[in-house]
Amino acid sequence: MTQDEMKKAVGQAALAYVQPNTIIGVGTGSTVNCFIDALASIKDQIKAAVSSSEASTARLKALGIPVVDLNDVTEFDIYVDGADEINPHMEMIKGGGAALTREKIVAAVAKRFICIADATKQVDVLGKFPLPVEVIPLAREYVARELRKLGGNPVYREGVITDNHCQILDVHDLQITNAKAFELVVNQIPGVVTVGLFASRGADVALIGSPEGVATITK
Ligand code: A5P
Repeated sequence: MTQDEMKKAVGQAALAYVQPNTIIGVGTGSTVNCFIDALASIKDQIKAAVSSSEASTARLKALGIPVVDLNDVTEFDIYVDGADEINPHMEMIKGGGAALTREKIVAAVAKRFICIADATKQVDVLGKFPLPVEVIPLAREYVARELRKLGGNPVYREGVITDNHCQILDVHDLQITNAKAFELVVNQIPGVVTVGLFASRGADVALIGSPEGVATITK
């Protein structure tokens, strides 16, 4: 199986978690695009989607899946999203596609986080993939200095403005052995909107695609 075929396989496998007549939380990225395409095949059986980005909203709508505002929803069962890295504790780095803030918000409302990823995303220790941190533009250089004090090497993702009109720092050279603690520390830096560590709210189920097929990992 190629990487694209693995993404399609996990996107399809996530349909098994979709209950009829419910609202589905939808993440962002190339793997989620495969899930959205699969979801379109059963669109008459679901109520609507809550989306984590303008890009996913556009794809959902183009395929005829209604999108509702998160403010109009009190709870829903599943949030399906990809990851840039996932460790054995089901903690993730996310935000390679710059959608981390809305992803974290929508994930927080869902009862269960279903992570869909190919096996290249599995790591023992998070941090080889540069950690995305969304920042208020005014605070970018201050936050970068604070991140350097924590041992990271932040690089401004030039030319990228998030859906929330903020900027992204990608923090290189980290080895995140205590992801929950690191998430808290970075969250406390003034000017940080969101850190792309999903540790305090990790995945509940991971559907991992490999050449052998899709493996299901549960917490
Ligand atoms: C978007 O901001 C990210 O969190 C994505 O979920 C993550 O980067 C995975 O993307 P791919 O499925 O494209 O690898």
